[in-house]
Amino acid sequence: MYSAQLLDRFYHPRWVGNVAAPSASATEGNPTCGDVVQIDIQVTDGLISVARFRTLGCAVAIAASDALCDLATGQTVTAAKFLHVDEVIAVLGGIPPRRESCAAAPLAALRSALFSVSGGPAAARRTVPEPTAGPPAGH
Ligand code: FES
Repeated sequence: MYSAQLLDRFYHPRWVGNVAAPSASATEGNPTCGDVVQIDIQVTDGLISVARFRTLGCAVAIAASDALCDLATGQTVTAAKFLHVDEVIAVLGGIPPRRESCAAAPLAALRSALFSVSGGPAAARRTVPEPTAGPPAGH
């Protein structure tokens, strides 16, 4: 039912825990079951230098959280936002059918943390210059 890779990460997770003073931390739930994943990240010079998780969930969610911490570490904040659930599933050597939401929950938490590091959509909008009063250049 579970791959050897998944079981190894479930029984021997490498990255469970918290970051003492994280750059960002976020908790997201799996809407299909109510389980929750917290991801802490430390960002140093634009790179994710440390990622840790605490997951109250099933074996797939715990193993996926651990795999995601490996995938995210060393990535830029921007690149990490594009990590895909298929990459997590590949590290786990596959997951049982209809369990993608379990593997996706850690990604949701990571993305929330990343948006808080980069200021999020609201902050991004604040960086857009105010429109000028005059007509566009060339008119
Ligand atoms: Fe809840 Fe898998 S059953 S995360």
